[in-house]
Amino acid sequence: MTLTILSMLLATAINIIPQPLSVREDKGSFKLKGTQISCDAQMGEIPLAAIAELSAQMTIVAGQVYPVSKPVGITETVRAGSGKGIIFAVDPTLVDEAYTINIDKRKAVILANSDNGFLYAIQTLKQLMPVSIYGHDTDEKAKWELPCCEIKDKPRFAYRGMHLDCCRHFWTVDEVKKILDVMATLKLNRFHWHLTEDQGWRAEIKAYPLLTEIGAWRPETIIGYQGMYLDGKFKFDGQRHGGFYTQEEMRDVVEYAARLGITIVPEVDLPGHMVAALASYPWLGCSGKSIETGGDYKVWTIWGVSPDVLCPGKDSTMEFLKTVIGELCDIFPGEYFHIGGDECPKTAWAQCPDCQARIAALGLKSDEHASAETRLQNYVTSEMQAFLATRGKKLIGWDEILEGDLEEGATVMSWRGLRGGIEASNRGFDVIMTPTDYCYFDYCQSDQFNYDEKMAALAESKSLEEMVGEPTCAWWGNLTIKQAYSFNPTAGLDKAAASHIMGAQANVWTEYIPTPEQLEYMIMPRLFAMSEVQWCELRNKDYDKFIEKVKGNGYKMLELKGFNFRNKDE
Ligand code: ACM
Ligand code: ZN
Repeated sequence: MTLTILSMLLATAINIIPQPLSVREDKGSFKLKGTQISCDAQMGEIPLAAIAELSAQMTIVAGQVYPVSKPVGITETVRAGSGKGIIFAVDPTLVDEAYTINIDKRKAVILANSDNGFLYAIQTLKQLMPVSIYGHDTDEKAKWELPCCEIKDKPRFAYRGMHLDCCRHFWTVDEVKKILDVMATLKLNRFHWHLTEDQGWRAEIKAYPLLTEIGAWRPETIIGYQGMYLDGKFKFDGQRHGGFYTQEEMRDVVEYAARLGITIVPEVDLPGHMVAALASYPWLGCSGKSIETGGDYKVWTIWGVSPDVLCPGKDSTMEFLKTVIGELCDIFPGEYFHIGGDECPKTAWAQCPDCQARIAALGLKSDEHASAETRLQNYVTSEMQAFLATRGKKLIGWDEILEGDLEEGATVMSWRGLRGGIEASNRGFDVIMTPTDYCYFDYCQSDQFNYDEKMAALAESKSLEEMVGEPTCAWWGNLTIKQAYSFNPTAGLDKAAASHIMGAQANVWTEYIPTPEQLEYMIMPRLFAMSEVQWCELRNKDYDKFIEKVKGNGYKMLELKGFNFRNKDE
């Protein structure tokens, strides 16, 4: 079949990403020209605002006014199909985030029973329209109509996330909002905002102003791949880099995300990955000096895992953490708070009198399962969990929090493969699956990446583009869109364990992502794949159909949104 015939076929078919639960395509279409939009008085303020926005957008791109009537009591007969125009109504029988769309030649009836259900119905309606709905200009050539159909839809997983590292490189509020917009289009509902790191502290904390006066800035950044410096003599760019979000800006992002149906999961990564905080307040460390250099702590300018971590032996450190997290709990209303917990070397603790005194006071022992120092990290996690509980929040941590003892009620984010998630779900913990093999969007999108070959090539000073044909730098691995699509977060789990898998998330670490253009390139089109992993029942996943949808309206939508993406056939 030629590409033209294929795209003609596609142009008439219903192509929605992520694929809805069920789609029945009927004959004919509903002409939208100047149609009235009616809303149920029982609907929430967020979907009503989204409908007003949809009407405004349709007015621009279709060149016709689409009046929205004042919310009214929608009668049973209208719900059952007697009305006309576009009708949004509450259906109390639908579950959270579910919606239905019924379109015939006279009307489109949209039912949902939650704010997100309505928001997702609107996203689907937009995908049923000509793709120029995503643009800024009037498109008079497009057929402004909706195909007659019946769509019933709800998500497979409740947690559908994307993570963004705003620390290795800083992203402005506008850049973050642009990403939130694309997430919302694909019905993602959690934004995991990685706010603290060795290389930069990004969240204003009123009680500790030096965190952003000092900790948000680094004087320079390592150039190129850290692994290519076989002699360890790194080169730096000499450019100051940094930035932070004021509390007002974070509140603004929270509000913006909420209007898109997205809850933010803030992360303060502790007790490791804390060099920026140590540089701001050296008393947070075991000795007040770097065990790496013997000198003062400095906001890190290279990548990796630093041995300089917080000292949990001191009460002042624990108070600091509660104050920081307390301020952030006031800003982020979601039920989850992420405390990191990954990659925390224990070297400093083993030598620190305060840490050893804490270990003795708590009676922590080393055994075949865990060292006393690992159990000291368990103590930190458990203190944070208890504190978060006083603020009505649940703790999430990376899968390292499973080592040693973990208290009931914690949620585990499995990143080092599926193993942590499998163990955690079998032990009865809730899990969010983010294994590197399927979910790390900092990995190279081609399948050409081979670590050993790459190191050899780097020794010959070849660029990544020469090696793997990618215009951008990337972390040490491959993750093709096909591989991302193939992910099943419950693979290999029995029913009981599978019921603990809350969902899945793409992680976007930004060591090797210095510009917004590159950031967008790394996210797309892989986020399309992640959205089907998160949303679709397995029986509805079909890679060939999916990739045609991406190459059709998917790419066009991104172009119209001005969102950069990778567009290569493997
Ligand atoms: C991680 O990638 N260090 C969670
Ligand atoms: Zn210590």
